[in-house]
Amino acid sequence: MPEKISFILNNELISTDINPALSLVDYIRYYKKLTGTKVSCREGECGACSVLAGELNDERIIYKNVNFCIFSLHSANRKHIVTIEGLNTSGLNAIQEEFLKNGALQCGFCTPEFIISLTCFFLSSDVIDIYNAIKFVSGNLCRCAGYFSIKDAISNLVKNLSGKVSESQDRIEELISLNIIPDYFKDIKSRLMPLQNYPMLDDTEDYDFLISGGTDLYVRDYNLVKSSRIKYATHSSSTIEAVWQNFNKIFISAFASVESVITSSVIKKYFKNIENLEKYFGSRQIRNKATVGGNIINSSPIGDMSNFLLSLNAEVYFRNGYGERKLLLRDLFLNYKKLNLRNGEILTKISFNIPPKNTFSNFIKISRRNHLDIASVNSAVYFIRTDDVIKKCSVSAGRVAPIPKYLADTPHYLKGKKIS
Ligand SMILES: Cc1cc2nc3c(=O)[nH]c(=O)nc-3n(C[C@H](O)[C@H](O)[C@H](O)COP(=O)(O)OP(=O)(O)OC[C@H]3O[C@@H](n4cnc5c(N)ncnc54)[C@H](O)[C@@H]3O)c2cc1C
Ligand code: FES
Ligand code: FES
Repeated sequence: MPEKISFILNNELISTDINPALSLVDYIRYYKKLTGTKVSCREGECGACSVLAGELNDERIIYKNVNFCIFSLHSANRKHIVTIEGLNTSGLNAIQEEFLKNGALQCGFCTPEFIISLTCFFLSSDVIDIYNAIKFVSGNLCRCAGYFSIKDAISNLVKNLSGKVSESQDRIEELISLNIIPDYFKDIKSRLMPLQNYPMLDDTEDYDFLISGGTDLYVRDYNLVKSSRIKYATHSSSTIEAVWQNFNKIFISAFASVESVITSSVIKKYFKNIENLEKYFGSRQIRNKATVGGNIINSSPIGDMSNFLLSLNAEVYFRNGYGERKLLLRDLFLNYKKLNLRNGEILTKISFNIPPKNTFSNFIKISRRNHLDIASVNSAVYFIRTDDVIKKCSVSAGRVAPIPKYLADTPHYLKGKKIS
């Protein structure tokens, strides 16, 4: 097993054998002395620690904005990591200029996080408009509540640049010429390529914790995680196939990020209301890191992804040293945080039937705040209808029981009922 984690930090190649469970924000601030990235909540809530993580995927680098306080040093392996210092090589960039013009800062604590997330927007958004720009900063909080001027700066930026940024997936050269990213970005792809041949650092069978995205475990007890033996589930959100179809089934990789699943073309094709999950599941930074497998195994009674998958009668597939096993998701949850799991089992994938025509599905989540909140109650419904009569249906609900709950009797009650 190789000893080192290798990645490019801004314009510098890093190879380090420091504890891979260290959070990247600690590495960057305390070992590299790059203090432009701030830390506040350390729980993935506020976005102060937003940075860019770029991953090589065949043709191009896919950049995502993530929260570094819950991002392990291990997750940086083979990636391009960009902090605010990596955007400011000579003077202000176009986004910073616009913030300055619009007075979009008071104390300035949140400014780096907004600049990072907006850079990510220009690098990654399919559509350059205000709606999508706001989506990219949805996980960034301004403690001085200077949102009006921040929004003005974003609107002006989008207005000025929308015609100039093409829809092409590879915009690096274009964004360099628009002074959004510095010149050195154009060589990053060729510099990342050799790193992809380094073996992953995963394989230990003797561990205290298995970590996937880490958004639950890092928040639960960072100090414990840091001092434990960790097995890193091979999680690489852009290079693995997140969702695929096989005959009459749709499969989801357990290691896929929530964001890659709910924005996948397959899921969007069959689930028109999937936007509700996008809107109400954490922030974009969290969804970029949180995995579907982690959501299921965390077994919170209000797990949003578990809830959605329960209503689809999903099946879950496990692997351990002895072989594979498949069971219905609803049979996995036994009691509060108690799962029908065998020794060393890892969840590998999830499947459900492709919805036939005349199906309707929806997910709703009610919480005290509209966004970035845990559910007071969540619920998902899936039904097949003939005209306006329910032929078959399944319903799930969260926070009504110690487990994410499949409502076993409700379909009998609803069958044959007219939709009103
Ligand atoms: C700020 C914030 C907002 C959030 N908002 C929401 C929200 O709106 N809705 C919601 O449902 N959740 C939310 N969460 C919770 C969390 O992000 C999700 O539960 C997430 O899907 C967990 O996935 P992960 O990969 O990060 O899990 P990890 O932290 O890596 O792991 C969680 C648990 O699952 C186990 N595990 C992970 N992957 C596997 C696997 N493949 N096989 C076996 N065991 C595995 C781990 O050992 C661990 O016990 C939020 C969390 C934060 C910090
Ligand atoms: S410090 Fe608040 S999200 Fe990381
Ligand atoms: S300007 Fe102070 S936190 Fe946003």
